[in-house]
Amino acid sequence: MSKIGKWIDERTGLSGPIQSFLRYPIPAYVHKNVLYMLGGLSLISFLLQALTGILLTFYFDPSTEGAYNSVDYITYTLPLGWLIRGIHHYGASAMVILVAFHMLRTYFTAAYKKPREINWLTGVILLFVTVAFGFTGYLLPWDQKGYWATRVGTEIASSVPIIGETIGQIMRGGAQLGQTTLTRFFATHVMVLPALLAALIGVHIFQLRHHGVAPAVTEAGKRDSKRFLPFFPYWVINDTVAGLGLLAILVVLASTQRAPLEFPADPTSSDFIPRPEWYFLFYYQILKYFPGPLEPVATVLIPLFIFGSMILLPFLDRSPERRPWKKPVTLIAGIFYIVVIVVFTVLAL
Ligand code: HEM
Repeated sequence: MSKIGKWIDERTGLSGPIQSFLRYPIPAYVHKNVLYMLGGLSLISFLLQALTGILLTFYFDPSTEGAYNSVDYITYTLPLGWLIRGIHHYGASAMVILVAFHMLRTYFTAAYKKPREINWLTGVILLFVTVAFGFTGYLLPWDQKGYWATRVGTEIASSVPIIGETIGQIMRGGAQLGQTTLTRFFATHVMVLPALLAALIGVHIFQLRHHGVAPAVTEAGKRDSKRFLPFFPYWVINDTVAGLGLLAILVVLASTQRAPLEFPADPTSSDFIPRPEWYFLFYYQILKYFPGPLEPVATVLIPLFIFGSMILLPFLDRSPERRPWKKPVTLIAGIFYIVVIVVFTVLAL
């Protein structure tokens, strides 16, 4: 250890925990397996969002008079502003995709089973927090798209029986969308959700280190599961390369297609068709099939059923079997949800 390193270690005692974090042995069969890189990539995409988000807040004006102009300035005038906003804009979609695919990997390999229930449960909340980032961020430019999508979103929340009106009031900070709404969405987007996500990721990774990676499901994986490689350098190099690949894709997207900004929000316009972010489209489509008195089916029963079954999954599925092809119920349920989301998204488009 260098002199400076020794000096710091004598005062902080950090070298021991850091060494054991870096030397942690991971089964060799998950190395360079793209399905097992999705969690790390989700983390990298969050770090990219945090970095570009911080840079954006240096120029963003969270007021209804100034928000639109500040985003316009970032996109069209500020040097490299288009790049930072572009990475943040496309990065948000990338994070939703990565987290969703990571969840599918853990679902189909039954990694949620005992003793990894807490890993799964923190994961379920992480998924909802990731989507909440998208919902709150959409309003911030205060353009037509964000304004009208949020208006519909808060109206959906308000239509929930009994508690809906209170939820709507809390989200908007009043009866109408206005400055308080923007302030609340901004505070949630840049303070509440990042703090929550960081804390949950901490628990998630701690749990992962505590229990290790779930046993292999394939025969080849099982044969190779006695061989271990240390986290450093194998995973560190692997994830850095994958993260740079992700960044390269986001830079290409940001360069070829500017992050969109529509006309400024106009609460009086009557002909604007509200469009949510693409990952909410399937849900908006489902809502259309439950008009009038049937609405609570889509706003309460379906979300409660989905959230409830995700929470209960590790406690209901208790057999030791992990191979997806030997678990017809979870296999069919998983495929059913994927088909529903894809079909309703396509219909909405
Ligand atoms: C921001 C979101 C998330 C981050 C940063 C994250 C990070 C990670 C990382 C780095 C791993 C180890 C590598 C891997 O298995 O890919 C992992 C494992 C795991 N994650 Fe996540 N995750 C997130 C969301 C989720 C979600 C939404 C779920 C499920 C609902 C989930 C459930 C799990 C489980 C059960 C494991 C253990 C896998 C095993 O032992 O094989 N995670 N997560």
